[in-house]
Parts: sequence; structure tokens; C-alpha cells
Amino acid sequence: MTEDVLDGRLRIAVVIGSVRRPRMADPLAAWLERELTAAYRLDLDMIDLASVSLPMHEMRAGGAAVSPIAGRLADADAFVFLTPEYNHSFPAPVKNVIDWHFTEWAYKPVAFVGYGGSGGVRAIEQLRAVFPELRATTVRESVLLPMPWEHLDADGRFVPPPGARQALHATMRELQVWARALRSLRAADPAGRE
Ligand SMILES: Cc1cc2nc3c(=O)[nH]c(=O)nc-3n(C[C@H](O)[C@H](O)[C@H](O)COP(=O)(O)O)c2cc1C
Repeated sequence: MTEDVLDGRLRIAVVIGSVRRPRMADPLAAWLERELTAAYRLDLDMIDLASVSLPMHEMRAGGAAVSPIAGRLADADAFVFLTPEYNHSFPAPVKNVIDWHFTEWAYKPVAFVGYGGSGGVRAIEQLRAVFPELRATTVRESVLLPMPWEHLDADGRFVPPPGARQALHATMRELQVWARALRSLRAADPAGRE
């Protein structure tokens, strides 16, 4: 194992799970991008599902080579899902992007930033049941943003309530620990990703 594999800069893909217009996801994604860019030396890839075409009828078990974002997901060391809660679960586009891919998730950590009336906790907890099937692990820490629409300034920018930034940084700390550890696992078991 080379040191570079273990110590190189991490690539984090942030998956924006709402595709509605308008959507609360916009100010929240902008906040995440600002915070993560300012605080960490990461290669950040913001993947907006609203601008990715993944038709449900073209989905294949085991992943589809034609996915326009397969390469971006494969290149990521870890994922942050920005997910709203719809009807006590995560939204359909989130399940769709998960199902469209397979090896891209394997042996990687997934963190969650949830939002909604109750902070998205039920969406997050249900996603925790999905990712082990893809050999991905979910991190304990998470960010819950209840009623984020009450925390917008006059320009529509999200102003995090007390505790939100700390939760984000605790989550990112854990995500990076897992991401570094799982790099070596991926290198050790490439067959497990087929
Ligand atoms: C179809 C639908 C169902 C929803 N169900 C819930 C819910 O069960 N629990 C909750 O806390 N919020 C619920 N909400 C509120 C959303 O979490 C909230 O509107 C959020 O801002 C949506 O994110 P978006 O605008 O980025 O899509 C629901 C919203 C929609 C559109």
C-alpha cells in the first residue's frame, strides 16, 4: 500500500437529493459548499440530481455503464447526502441515484445532512438501512436541520442555527476518518467491488 493511497487529498461528493423547483436544497447546498470549502482541503464535487438524467426505466441491477455520473461517483472517496424528508422517508431521486449505481458506493462512507419539519431524521435513518447492501457504511454523526426555511436571511442565504456548524464539523471529521481507512480496504479487496 503506498502512502499516497492512504494520505492523498480526499474527494467528497455532495449529492443534492431534492429536484424540486423551487427548493430548500438550494440555500442549504450553497451553505454546505461554503462551509466545506472554507474549512477543509478537499476535492469537493457537488452533484445536483436536478441536472442529472437517470431515467427510472433504464435502471439495471448492478449499475448501468451509461450513467452520466458513474465516473464522478467512482472517483469519490466519500459521500454527503443532502436529503429532505418526504412522507417520513427520503425522496425518490435519492433512491433512484442509489439504485442506478452499484460498485461506485462500495467500501465508502456516507454522511447525511437532513432537513425538513423534523430535521430529516426519518429520511436519514431509512437510508442507513439501504447502504449496507451496496457495501457502503454510514457514519454515526449527522446534521439535522429542522425547519431550515426559518433560518434564511433577507438575501435567501441559509444562516445556520446554533449547533448546526458543530454538527457539520463533527460529521465531516468522522467521514474523513472513515474515508481514509476505507481507501485501504478498497485497495485490498478490489474483487469485493465487482
Ligand atoms: C411530498 C412532501 C412530503 C413531505 N413530507 C414531510 C415529512 O414527512 N416530514 C417532514 O419533516 N417534512 C416533510 N415535508 C417537508 C419538506 O421536508 C420540506 O418542504 C423541505 O424543505 C423540502 O425540501 P426541498 O424544498 O429541497 O425539496 C414534505 C415535503 C414534500 C414536498
